[in-house]
Amino acid sequence: MSFKSAIYPGSFDPVTKGHMDIIKRSAKMYDKLYIAVLTNSSKRCSFTIDERIEMIKKCTAHISNVEVCTFSGLLAEYAKSIGVIAIVRGLRAVTDFEYEFQMALTNKKINKELETIFLTTNSKYMYLSSSIVKEIARNGGDITDFVPAAALEDIKNRLERNDKNGL
Ligand code: COA
Repeated sequence: MSFKSAIYPGSFDPVTKGHMDIIKRSAKMYDKLYIAVLTNSSKRCSFTIDERIEMIKKCTAHISNVEVCTFSGLLAEYAKSIGVIAIVRGLRAVTDFEYEFQMALTNKKINKELETIFLTTNSKYMYLSSSIVKEIARNGGDITDFVPAAALEDIKNRLERNDKNGL
């Protein structure tokens, strides 16, 4: 049987339990899973690339076939350069579909060999998003149920610091 790898890209600003659910499930489907921490040009991130990478590394340290990476440029071209066969994305609701469909078709146009695999989000995390986590934390709410334990303190500390600096 041939070695099969996939890539799970996202902004992960910050990583949530919803992302972790997709990571754990897709890591079981492939021999290797790359998690690509990227910049979405239409979003203004609260965490730096290095902070986001560090948090995901901590949260995935126990999953042996995961590698965290980043790059600039096009996802479909990077995927080709490292030989992955699929992009993994989580679908939360109908509202995600149009955006995801557009990305999948664009990536396919750039790299014909590349498939996009959608995993349905665990129903527990249907409502969850990184923006909601930031909103709750900034307003003094408890985010313990929403983010992986390994990243909880980093996220709280960073958002507190942002608040003090008026960011
Ligand atoms: N459960 C709960 N929430 C989830 C989730 C899940 N399983 N999966 C994603 N989300 C949420 C995230 O928290 C995030 O919330 P936010 O919008 O409040 O930040 C949102 O869904 C989607 O974010 P995420 O999956 O982290 O990344 P993204 O959609 O911002 O990623 C890129 C987009 C980076 C993959 C895309 O811009 C890209 O590929 N860029 C590279 C350049 C390129 O090739 N561009 C052409 C693409 S066609």
